[in-house]
Amino acid sequence: MASYETLLVERRGRVAVITINRPEKRNALNIKTREEGAAALEELREDDAVRVVVITGAGDKAFVAGADIGEFKGRTAVSQRDVMTGRSLFTAVDTFPKPIVAMVNGFCLGGGCELALACDLRIASDRASFGQPEINLGIIPGGGGTQRLTRLVGEGKAMELILTGDIIDAQTAFQIGLVNMVFPAAELEIKTLELASRIAEKSPIALRMAKEAVKTASRSNLDEGLRREVDLFALCFSSEDKDEGVTAFLEKRKPEFKGR
Ligand code: COA
Repeated sequence: MASYETLLVERRGRVAVITINRPEKRNALNIKTREEGAAALEELREDDAVRVVVITGAGDKAFVAGADIGEFKGRTAVSQRDVMTGRSLFTAVDTFPKPIVAMVNGFCLGGGCELALACDLRIASDRASFGQPEINLGIIPGGGGTQRLTRLVGEGKAMELILTGDIIDAQTAFQIGLVNMVFPAAELEIKTLELASRIAEKSPIALRMAKEAVKTASRSNLDEGLRREVDLFALCFSSEDKDEGVTAFLEKRKPEFKGR
């Protein structure tokens, strides 16, 4: 693996953990972090030994406290647009072919919340907090927040969070469906890695098809989505993993999926 200035990337069996490593700046996303995040994902995409990715923040205070506000000063509209539309970390996460789990250990604000929203699952510590406080800076979410948050929690709650900039705790985030699970801070890592490892045992081909099919639901109408689902379902039938899964069930043993 390449080494990065603002990230740590490590393997835990079939799970790769990307840690955004700027704790002194509450892991705020500067240009370098965005670029390195996208580059790390490109590397992990090609690595068949990695089946699930976990993204988290260094230290015990923040997952990611948003875009690096220091970089906003003096930036023009055009250069800001380039940052957002260039090699976008959010798009890299969204289109990554393997499941990505956000392990949210603290402040998950602005671009941090948008990063978590682009992930497939969000697992939070009971000390985590969430919000889209951009409105307080005279701007709005620009990393997918207005779209992904709305699709995930509905227009009413998304509008409330985005218009007020209010920060909510992990339990509230769980109640509105923004996070999947909440654990005591001391158990967050072990529980998240347990979950990621459990998913990593499934067929990588089926995981990929499942992710694509579920994502299609909010991006197409029902008829298109159902057609896409059938195509992806049928594609699974071309895999050795499907034969292994069915045979293992009939032989009453655990399947050993190879990703073929
Ligand atoms: N961008 C740049 N720097 C940030 C940052 C961000 N989004 N969030 C925190 N930092 C920096 C602070 O400027 C401070 O740097 P300094 O030590 O050089 O002064 C350092 O991180 C620690 O932040 P601090 O505010 O002292 O920590 P805290 O634990 O008391 O509060 C937050 C944490 C996250 C509540 C607070 O930093 C904050 O509100 N950050 C901005 C959140 C935001 O608006 N995000 C959306 C951006 S679009």
